[in-house]
Amino acid sequence: MEKIRIALIGYGNVGQAFARMLLRRKDYIMEKFGLEPMITGISTGRRGGIIRSEGIDTTGLTDEMFNKELKALDVIDFGEYDIMVELTPINIMTGQPATDHIKHALELGKHVITANKGPIAWHYRELRDLALNKGLQFRHEATVMDGAPVYNLVQETLMGCKITEVKGILNATTNFVLTEMEKGVSYEEAIEEGRKQGFVEADASMDLDGWDASAKLTALMNVLMDVEITPLDIRRTGIGGVTKGDLDQAAAQGKKIKLLCHGWLDENGQPIGVVEPTLVDQNDLAAIMDATMSYVTVNTDLTGEMTMIEHAFEPEIDHTAYGVLSDLLRILTEITR
Ligand SMILES: NC(=O)c1ccc[n+]([C@@H]2O[C@H](COP(=O)([O-])OP(=O)(O)OC[C@H]3O[C@@H](n4cnc5c(N)ncnc54)[C@H](OP(=O)(O)O)[C@@H]3O)[C@@H](O)[C@H]2O)c1
Repeated sequence: MEKIRIALIGYGNVGQAFARMLLRRKDYIMEKFGLEPMITGISTGRRGGIIRSEGIDTTGLTDEMFNKELKALDVIDFGEYDIMVELTPINIMTGQPATDHIKHALELGKHVITANKGPIAWHYRELRDLALNKGLQFRHEATVMDGAPVYNLVQETLMGCKITEVKGILNATTNFVLTEMEKGVSYEEAIEEGRKQGFVEADASMDLDGWDASAKLTALMNVLMDVEITPLDIRRTGIGGVTKGDLDQAAAQGKKIKLLCHGWLDENGQPIGVVEPTLVDQNDLAAIMDATMSYVTVNTDLTGEMTMIEHAFEPEIDHTAYGVLSDLLRILTEITR
C-alpha cells in the first residue's frame, strides 16, 4: 500500500497525543484513502530529532533514538515526508520560529498542518498564498477552540457567506479566574488553583493580560474575514483590573463580567478587534459559559449569527489532537480526489 509520510515538528503534549490518535485511526485511513500513514520525522527542542524514511515506532521511542544535532529545519529540509505538522510552542509576539518552519516546508512542496496560532496571527496571508501558489494544503483547525471545527464550519459548511463579525470567549484561564472570583476566591488563589488543575501555565501573564485571546481573535479575523492584522492591532485589556467589587456590582445588576473577544469591520471596511472585560446579561450566552467552556459566534451576511460551543472533554489534549487529525483527513481527501 502507498504510504503517506508525516513529519512532526514539536513532539510535546499535542504531538504525542496526535501520534497516539493516528495509531487509533490508522486502519480507518488505510481503508478510506488507500494510504498507510507513517511518521518519518520528529523534531524536539531539547532531545534533537529523528529522521527515518522507513517509519518511526512512536510507541517505543527512547532518548537514544534522537540525534541531538538534528534541529527542526534539518528535519524539515532533509526528512522524507509528504505532510509537515508544526507543533512547537507559540510565540505570541512574533509567530516564530513556527512561521519559518512552515515556510520552509511549503517551499519544499509539502502540505502543512499547524496547531500553533502564532503563524496564523502574524503571517497568515503570506503562508496561505504561498500554499495556494504551490497547489498545497495549509490547515490550522486546532489553532482556535482545539478540535471544534470553527474554520471548517465557515469555509466548507457556510460556503458563500461573508463573515461580518466574530465574537466569543476564547481563553479558559481568564474565564476560570473570573468564575472563581465570583465565588469569593481571590485572583491569586484562582490562578494557583488553575495551575493545580493543569490548564494554567507557570507564566499565566499571556492569558491574564489578554494576549492569548488577542492572538486567537486575530487568527479568526485573518482567516474568516480575510484581513491582515496582528495581535498588536487588537484593542486589548486583560482581567488584572477586575475586582471582586466589580463582579459583585455586576451581579447586583443581574450581570456578569466576561473577557469577550469581538471583531468586525467598520463602515470603511477596516478591521476592528477588541478583547476586554465586558458586562454581559446573566441570560446572555457568554454568561453561561463556565470556566472550561469556550464559544465563538460568527455573524454572516446570509445567515445571521451561528455559534459553536466547546465543552470540556477528557483527556482534554485529545480535543486538540483531533483538530490536527481532522486537518490530516481533509488533506487526504483533497489529495486522493
Ligand atoms: N496544549 C494544548 O491544549 C493546545 C491547544 C491548542 C493549540 N496548542 C498549540 O500547539 C502547539 C504545541 O503545544 P504543546 O502543548 O504540545 O506544547 P509542548 O508540550 O510545550 O510541546 C512543544 C514541543 O515543541 C518542541 N520544541 C520547542 N522548540 C522547538 C524548536 N525550536 N524546534 C523543534 N521543536 C521544538 C518541544 O521540545 P521539548 O520536547 O524538548 O520540550 C516539544 O517537543 C503550541 O503552539 C500550542 O500553542 C496547544
